[in-house]
Amino acid sequence: MRSFLFTLRRTVAVGAATVAALALTATAALADDPTPRPGVVGGTPAQQGEFPWMVRLSMGCGGSLYTQQIVLTAAHCVSGSGANTSITATAGVADLGSSQAIKVKSTRVLQAPGYNGSGKDWALIKLAQPINLPTLKTADTTAYNNGTFTIAGWGADREGGSQQRRLLKATVPFVDDTACQQAYGNLIPGEEICAGYLDQGGVDTCQGDSGGPMFRKDAAGAWIQVGIVSWGEGCARPHYPGVYSEVSTFAANIKSAAASLGG
Ligand code: ARG
Repeated sequence: MRSFLFTLRRTVAVGAATVAALALTATAALADDPTPRPGVVGGTPAQQGEFPWMVRLSMGCGGSLYTQQIVLTAAHCVSGSGANTSITATAGVADLGSSQAIKVKSTRVLQAPGYNGSGKDWALIKLAQPINLPTLKTADTTAYNNGTFTIAGWGADREGGSQQRRLLKATVPFVDDTACQQAYGNLIPGEEICAGYLDQGGVDTCQGDSGGPMFRKDAAGAWIQVGIVSWGEGCARPHYPGVYSEVSTFAANIKSAAASLGG
């Protein structure tokens, strides 16, 4: 089981690097396509401005604005911690090809302390300038780790598919730890939260959506982030739900890490 775990996680991490190369090609190619297919498996196009804190990262991952100058993403999307000016964040647009796109470079990356390829799949990216867009609140209790979640991203629209120019969204139901552990013996229940249609499959995040948020409405009707796209066996397969970092578990760590980056 341990070797399966490591093999799977390594596949996922290598996938992110492959996706980074694909993302550039896909964005360029799709610029001339009048009917590009939307991203996320089983989704529909998001409206411009619908999820204003959604960010596309140049290595081929998603992210969310934690503050106006800090992006929350997955640890497996970055290669370590420290000064880093190599990442471009694209924000403010559902269509990555839009002339309205806001593009800001990174200055620093903070990968979850102790990240070793399983669990703790979160990281922060500090931006060179703040972006004047709404931020996404993060869950700091388990209260919202249930119900129906929204997922969104510019990743593949099917297993093995290409990266997408237009943001796609979908909704997926919560899958409890016991059921998720039946699919994945290597699940880390305290650090990971699963979602998907267990029996049917068909709706899921996929390669290139990693690092993006999984979110729902809170008691006040505001969007709140409960997960970070992390991994899965293929995409949208029956009996293999998507696995997300459990944001509530890491809320305090993320908060202090953001403070150490200067908010
Ligand atoms: N690890 C993938 C990435 O780097 C995300 C995979 C999500 N898979 C899933 N079945 N939900 O983009």
